[in-house]
Amino acid sequence: MSLPLLQIALDNLTIEDAINSVKKAAKYIDVIEVGTILLASEGKKAISEIKKHFPDKIIVADGKIADAGKVFAKMFFENGADYTTAICAAENATMADLVEYSKTFSDNKEIQVEMTTNFTWEQVEQWKKAGVPQVVWHRARDAQAAGVKWGKNDIETVAKLANLGFKVTVTGGVSVEDIKLFKDIPIYIFIAGRSIRDAENPELAAKEFKDEFKKYWK
Ligand code: 5RP
Ligand code: MG
Repeated sequence: MSLPLLQIALDNLTIEDAINSVKKAAKYIDVIEVGTILLASEGKKAISEIKKHFPDKIIVADGKIADAGKVFAKMFFENGADYTTAICAAENATMADLVEYSKTFSDNKEIQVEMTTNFTWEQVEQWKKAGVPQVVWHRARDAQAAGVKWGKNDIETVAKLANLGFKVTVTGGVSVEDIKLFKDIPIYIFIAGRSIRDAENPELAAKEFKDEFKKYWK
């Protein structure tokens, strides 16, 4: 199993603040997410600025696209995103359009379906048929704030998604202590937002994630 990648989620309110967050931990970061909050606050310019400052990192636009797939994906991909998210509630036509559109780029653009607990396995089957390569298993920020912990359902769902052949990302208030819960599963990316951005020493916090990955994945 390959080592998971580490993604920093930039749910900052300004581009300047977001760039500073990455600079503090860049050494250990593989993937940079232009968070939904940053996108809403600053718009697509946030993507092009982050790309300009960190050209060697994989860039994700967490657009949580629900409809008008190509319109949003064009904005995100043309401004430098490698991956963009679509929310699991989107119609299959949107997912299929997004996959087809991502393939028109020569530099490996991909779609990630962002999943909450509001999904069905029939939908998952349709995403697979449409050629969706990636899914993001997401404990919602508001669910986490309401006290929802990682549990058996998360582990089983993530393992099943990986078995189905999706590249799986895990997100939602992930801390270093949570990593071992997913240890026997080929996780593609773990996302850490607040646990890196708000750490006293963001570089050390990011390093601790990477060290933890090395303990459980070879
Ligand atoms: C919320 C998100 C966040 O980007 C995701 O939850 C990661 O951030 P954090 O680690 O701070 O929870 O997409 O909808
Ligand atoms: Mg996000």
